[in-house]
Amino acid sequence: MRLFKPNYLKVVVILFGIAIIPAFRLTTLPTVIEARVIAEESELERAALDILKSKCNVCHTRKNPKKVFTSKNISDLAPKIYQQVFIKRRMPKGKEVKLTTQEYAVLEKWLFTQDIF
Ligand code: HEC
Repeated sequence: MRLFKPNYLKVVVILFGIAIIPAFRLTTLPTVIEARVIAEESELERAALDILKSKCNVCHTRKNPKKVFTSKNISDLAPKIYQQVFIKRRMPKGKEVKLTTQEYAVLEKWLFTQDIF
């Protein structure tokens, strides 16, 4: 019985180890997923800001300087961007600047990450 004991302990330790690995993974999984979602969302926001900078700020800088899009105001202006670009379709104003299908898709996808609906 004495000889058997250490082995028995080893088995318990090993089984505990095997059991704790998936349990540990389960506790960290939500944070891993959350981190990935945050990374994806900030990537999307960067892409949206690139579009707003190249297609909208070119004009706003001169004609509507109060609404020059930056990384700081982009979220606050999301509801207005949605209204102007997708609902009223007033922006981009004029005939010169057009958004491509891809650019509309990126803006729309980013808007879905904003709490505006
Ligand atoms: C050729 C010029 C021009 C371009 C390009 C342009 N805008 Fe504008 N935008 C204006 C002007 C001028 C105003 C202010 C007067 C008005 O609302 O028409 C304005 C106003 C706005 C407003 C505020 C409207 C409100 O609620 O009062 C938003 C939001 C906006 N633009 C978004 C955009 C977005 C997004 C783009 C790019 C996809 C864009 N604009 C491209 C000229 C432009």
